[in-house]
Amino acid sequence: MRERVALRDGRELKIEVLRTVPEGRATDILEFLGHKGRPYLRHFQDYFDHGSRGAIEGLEWRFYVGSHEGKLIGNICTWEYRGLGILGHVFTHPAWRRRGVANHLLEFQDSDFRMRGGRVMVLGLGKDPRPRRLYQLHGFEDVPDCPGAMVRARTESLVDRLFRGKSVRLSALRWRHWPSACLLFLMAHPAYVRCAGLDVYGPRLAEGPIVHHFPALWSLPPRYRDRVEVLETRAGTCVAWASQMRDPNWGGTSKRRVFDLFFHPRFRKQAERLVERFVLPRGTVAYSTPEDPKNEILEEAGFRELASLKNCLSGGETLLILER
Ligand SMILES: CC(C)(COP(=O)(O)OP(=O)(O)OC[C@H]1O[C@@H](n2cnc3c(N)ncnc32)[C@H](O)[C@@H]1OP(=O)(O)O)[C@@H](O)C(=O)NCCC(=O)NCCS
Repeated sequence: MRERVALRDGRELKIEVLRTVPEGRATDILEFLGHKGRPYLRHFQDYFDHGSRGAIEGLEWRFYVGSHEGKLIGNICTWEYRGLGILGHVFTHPAWRRRGVANHLLEFQDSDFRMRGGRVMVLGLGKDPRPRRLYQLHGFEDVPDCPGAMVRARTESLVDRLFRGKSVRLSALRWRHWPSACLLFLMAHPAYVRCAGLDVYGPRLAEGPIVHHFPALWSLPPRYRDRVEVLETRAGTCVAWASQMRDPNWGGTSKRRVFDLFFHPRFRKQAERLVERFVLPRGTVAYSTPEDPKNEILEEAGFRELASLKNCLSGGETLLILER
């Protein structure tokens, strides 16, 4: 793991891992990441102001920064919890592109992650598919049926093994669940409607949707907040998700709350306990499809079919609208 490497044009790249943002470098880093939208900037700002004691709590944030003669020219961020991570904010200063900056940073990050026993890393490509090759070179693979999401696991069966465990406990959603909730929502599963409140239908990377919900989940006054409860294994992996959020469908005009439930099939029984954590007022809606394993649990919780819309979803599936 070399901290000084030569770029394609012979110039030197210095690589550092920052666990906290050193005094005097926050402005540089924020300026460098300024192209990210507002929800992400809020996320950075919270971290810069409060570090791991802020909203992100125990989630480990690392900046892998590359510089030349003291000038920041490349960055990667990772957020990890117990060997599961999200990799993002991969950015090379436009004047330094195609010289190997991102390549070296990714190589460094991979060695560092492995050395610490890191197991699974997930990332989203965003709108531009061109960097896909870059990630493939570093062991990331496409997620079936989810264009744009890539996962790198130390062994093939590892992701499946994460979603095992005899005892699970209930918890309010915390940032430490962010990486494993992303893996959960990416899995092959008969449920199409995974979290309507976050616009997660079918396997989809929830990394961005969760960050976009930062204010609604953590910073609005409590009575206006969305609520998410999860089941986590002893290792802290999120294996089931239930949420009560503003319904973003119907052009955003609905005043109703939407209830979502998504769980790994191994935890179907325990997922029932999640529902009991919510007070679900009359008029709460839920969306589903006829083959979704959550239907039975919703029925027990008092949800009844309001409408069944054939061929409504992109794959021709029937959409069920339920109401309590
Ligand atoms: C994507 C990005 C980080 C690449 O950084 P970089 O330092 O120029 O990348 P490298 O020089 O290390 O490239 C390594 C390899 O990645 C691939 N690659 C990188 N940029 C590419 C591009 N624009 N088109 C096609 N392939 C590309 C190539 O295989 C390249 O190897 P090569 O130059 O030998 O062909 C940079 O273009 C960038 O910051 N883009 C804007 C932000 C962004 O899109 N981030 C990624 C979000 S997923």
